Amino acid sequence: MKLNIRKVKPEDINTFVNIYISAYASLTDYKYTSKKDIKNYFKWLYRRDSEGFFIAEIDKKPVGFCACDSNWVNREGKPVFAIHEVFVLPEFTGKGIGKALIEKALEYACTKGRKTVELWVGEKNYKAINFYKKLGFKEVGKWGKWIKMTKWLNC
Ligand code: ACO
Repeated sequence: MKLNIRKVKPEDINTFVNIYISAYASLTDYKYTSKKDIKNYFKWLYRRDSEGFFIAEIDKKPVGFCACDSNWVNREGKPVFAIHEVFVLPEFTGKGIGKALIEKALEYACTKGRKTVELWVGEKNYKAINFYKKLGFKEVGKWGKWIKMTKWLNC
């Protein structure tokens, strides 16, 4: 099983839509449901930071994505490194792919001189919350149904 993580290209849009739908199938909330909205989301993520948008492939098969943003300014007006999105095909979860995608994102954050990483996750998305905690993120706030998590980078 050979894992490769590369930058996303605009032509990955349909793969993004298909894997997004599968990855979020068991979650009833915190997601876009129409293909049109998911495509627009892909375009927004790509515009935000194309250098920080990654796709994971196992033996050349696309299995997951991670989209981050080195240009983000948070709700308090502070420039932070944001992780907007990460997901993995259900049949490939639990194999370290999500972790590898986040590590790639954090490596990228360091090249941009960012020290604070911030993300928002659904309050009942326990799987993702536990995943982020395992990777060193801490819950630091809440807004509506969203939990804010941050991690400090030593780079
Ligand atoms: N409970 C406890 N720990 C977990 C869980 C869980 N449910 N899932 C993963 N972990 C731990 C693993 O044990 C592993 O720890 P280890 O390094 O000590 O072995 C670590 O987290 C990394 O696990 P991976 O196998 O790399 O994670 P995976 O590839 O399964 O991806 C993900 C996790 C991305 C959350 C996946 O389950 C998914 O796609 N979920 C649906 C989409 C989603 O909710 N995305 C996040 C939305 S929030 C946002 O994107 C900002």
